Amino acid sequence: MNDKSEFTASIKHALGGKLEQNQIEKLIEKPKSPDHGDLAFPCFSLAKMERKAPHLIAQGLSSNITSSLFEKVEPAGGYVNVFLNKNTVARHVLAEIIQKKGDYGSQNIGNKGVVTIDMSSPNIAKPFSMGHLRSTVIGNSLALILEKCGFQPMKINYLGDWGTQFGKLIAAYKMWGNEQQVKENPIKELLKLYIKFHEEAETNAELDEKGRKWFKRLEDGDEEALNLWKWFKEESLKEFNRIYKLLDIEFDSYNGEAYYNDKMDDTVKLLQKKELLTESDHALVVELSDENLPPCLIKKSDGATLYATRDLTAAIDRKQRYDFVQSLYVVGHEQSLHFQQIIGVLQKMGFSWADSMTHVPFGMVLKDGKKMSTRKGKVVLLEDVLEESTEMAYQNITVKNPDLPDKETVAKQVGVGAIIFHDLKNFRMNDIDFSLEDMLRFEGETGPYVQYTNARAQSILRKSHFEPDMATADSFECVDQEWEIMTLLKEFPEVIKRAQEQLDPSQIARYAISLARAFNKYYAHVRILDPDDRQDQRLILVYAVTTVLKESLRLLGIQAPDEM
Ligand code: ARG
Repeated sequence: MNDKSEFTASIKHALGGKLEQNQIEKLIEKPKSPDHGDLAFPCFSLAKMERKAPHLIAQGLSSNITSSLFEKVEPAGGYVNVFLNKNTVARHVLAEIIQKKGDYGSQNIGNKGVVTIDMSSPNIAKPFSMGHLRSTVIGNSLALILEKCGFQPMKINYLGDWGTQFGKLIAAYKMWGNEQQVKENPIKELLKLYIKFHEEAETNAELDEKGRKWFKRLEDGDEEALNLWKWFKEESLKEFNRIYKLLDIEFDSYNGEAYYNDKMDDTVKLLQKKELLTESDHALVVELSDENLPPCLIKKSDGATLYATRDLTAAIDRKQRYDFVQSLYVVGHEQSLHFQQIIGVLQKMGFSWADSMTHVPFGMVLKDGKKMSTRKGKVVLLEDVLEESTEMAYQNITVKNPDLPDKETVAKQVGVGAIIFHDLKNFRMNDIDFSLEDMLRFEGETGPYVQYTNARAQSILRKSHFEPDMATADSFECVDQEWEIMTLLKEFPEVIKRAQEQLDPSQIARYAISLARAFNKYYAHVRILDPDDRQDQRLILVYAVTTVLKESLRLLGIQAPDEM
């Protein structure tokens, strides 16, 4: 059932072809106040075309619109206001939710087309930063949303496991490293070495040279260099995997930068063949001045390849491997220029599919208004953050519900969910403020609030041993207090579609908050468990709310405990 298309069709019919369907659809609004109905069509642009007063057009149109879906069609000023038939809508929506359960809102926009999602992509031997966390949870949610819309997402963890920094790290380890210490605390120790290297290099120019030499040995396949690199990578991955496990996120591919090491020659050759390479200061670049971009550096004067060379190679490989319909890069906005250059170069190479590449940028994580930095020793380790959050959630639960079974599992779901929700609830380009206390509140716009609302609804269903059935949906009589919830339930598929089109999980997070709020309002005013003849109707509404809340949380990558 789609009330908007029904309204569009009736207006189109009433206008006798004066406006096209999509023109009408664009004009339709949702009135701010429920007194003005559920949908409104403004007649002002028609008034201009027709040179007629808007209120007269509205009057004329109103008397020509009929549908069993509309209870009342009413001209008001220059608007045609439509009041939906509450029972018809409610019965439709409830029946659909009972039938489809978690599949409610699924749609086939993607036709199984593959969408690659470059996400997470932390750098080996460095801590997993807040930025990488953002990329991980935004990417994961986008994958779930895309899948819900009929696409086939491919989550690619493009590990930062290659580049000159590994030469520096090997050099540092050779000078000052201690195997035992690194084994015990890999990321912290390797980071220490890396920082020490940079500090010493400020006064000792030889160090950079040493670093470069080690990277050259690494690129040339030197055994010692390679073994150290492999070891660093293994140790790092162990730590990263612990974080992914906590977040409950898996990847389809871990092909990172190093994977493209022996494939870059082909890219350089291809660029040469297409006569796109120019020499500048002994380095090879692709000029992008007609795109108003700085040149893209492909090879340094010493022959070393760059971040861009690897990304170009990876993009070509991904197209061949997955034949994607869309290719997303969930990476902080500070890399916007880089992706413009990559896309620009691929277009110059004649790859029309470069147009289906999209950088999905996001803002920074701030603490007390400042960027949270992993540099300069002041490291916030993400694993510690997740653990602290879980611990705080545990304490909250102990106060609220001391008898809850399996508190540890629920605390983990709530603690981790709080962090994910906090990240996803605002449009991704906004910077986010990092405050565990704010994230973990059970009230306000938080993950625990939504989870808690869902658990409350679940507990009502448990208490009443309620099983939803079609007959109750089909005979549902919607009362005024239920209409807000019903319209929200009705909107869920559109919200998902918008989130997919705009690559914006916050649409779903905000929706979940609205639905939770509407439900809590209802709960505060209505006695749900009251054995009158409407109890089953109220319970079926509760059932529909939990189904959609759970699915919303799932699309954000957040668990929904049944009890908390
Ligand atoms: N490893 C990079 C970093 O931490 C992010 C990689 C993003 N993806 C890409 N295809 N360049 O900055």
